[in-house]
Amino acid sequence: STQDYYDLIADATASIRDRVPAHLASPKVLIICGSGLGGIASRIKGDAEVILHYETIPGFQKSTVAGHAGHLQFGLMGIDPNQDNLVPVICMVGRLHFYEGYSFQAATFPVRVATELGVETVIITNAAGGVNPRYVPGDLMIMNDHINFPGLSGQHPLKGPNLEKFGPRFPATSDAYDLELRKALIHQAEAANLSRTIHEGVYAFVSGPTFESRAEVRMLRLMGADAVGMSSVPEVVVARHSGLKVLGLSLITNSGVSDPPTSAFIDDSQTPDSKGHASHEEVLLHAQEAAQDVETLVERLVGLL
Ligand code: 6GU
Repeated sequence: STQDYYDLIADATASIRDRVPAHLASPKVLIICGSGLGGIASRIKGDAEVILHYETIPGFQKSTVAGHAGHLQFGLMGIDPNQDNLVPVICMVGRLHFYEGYSFQAATFPVRVATELGVETVIITNAAGGVNPRYVPGDLMIMNDHINFPGLSGQHPLKGPNLEKFGPRFPATSDAYDLELRKALIHQAEAANLSRTIHEGVYAFVSGPTFESRAEVRMLRLMGADAVGMSSVPEVVVARHSGLKVLGLSLITNSGVSDPPTSAFIDDSQTPDSKGHASHEEVLLHAQEAAQDVETLVERLVGLL
């Protein structure tokens, strides 16, 4: 019931406040680390950090995916050399996905708890497939909109009785991605002299765990998607329900398969079936190569908050 869910959030919050020192227990920012991007947490400064494993927090599920650990890391982040203006953050190292078998309510539970702890801004990172033909592996994409595919067809994180304490029954999602944060990220990329290409575009959320077929990628492109992935949008929706500011950053780890379909009628050894297929290994490889740049961007952005 709704009351049980509220109670579970209160239990999780109490368990965290019991174990995290006061100066870290009211974080301003929640950072959700995407596949292979858990290194963002390494930018937490000094030894003032606390790690809580998901299995020790009431209501938290375990992360079951390679490349995803499963803990919250509380600490201070920023780039102030005097370390005077560091910002208290929570890093979610290892996120929960719908395809692991969790309900959206379970998968977005950490965002509810972070909201209860007083977080005002959520920085959400992910590894995604490129759908826009101009995107190449290693590029970054600032999310400026999304397509909530499961949500549009009735698998929605806000389905069921509305959590009135958190937000309204019918929240808008038309401006989910904060314009000032997006501008600030571009500015920080310039200030840090990053050479990596940064796009701005639409992230299509699909449930996974299969990577898309060629026909599905063409469909997503027709619908206006620039990238596709299996995460993030549920967390964005739940964060926006409570009016939190959101920044979403996708690392393009592979091209969505966009080669022409092969035909059994045409004898053409130049287009083998396997050309360009996506794999989790490729995703993690590109995530590893770009991880430092993503870490730098997030660290600099947090410093401004
Ligand atoms: Cl190609 N598709 C999906 N759904 N998720 C991904 C991906 C592709 N690449 C990384 N994550």
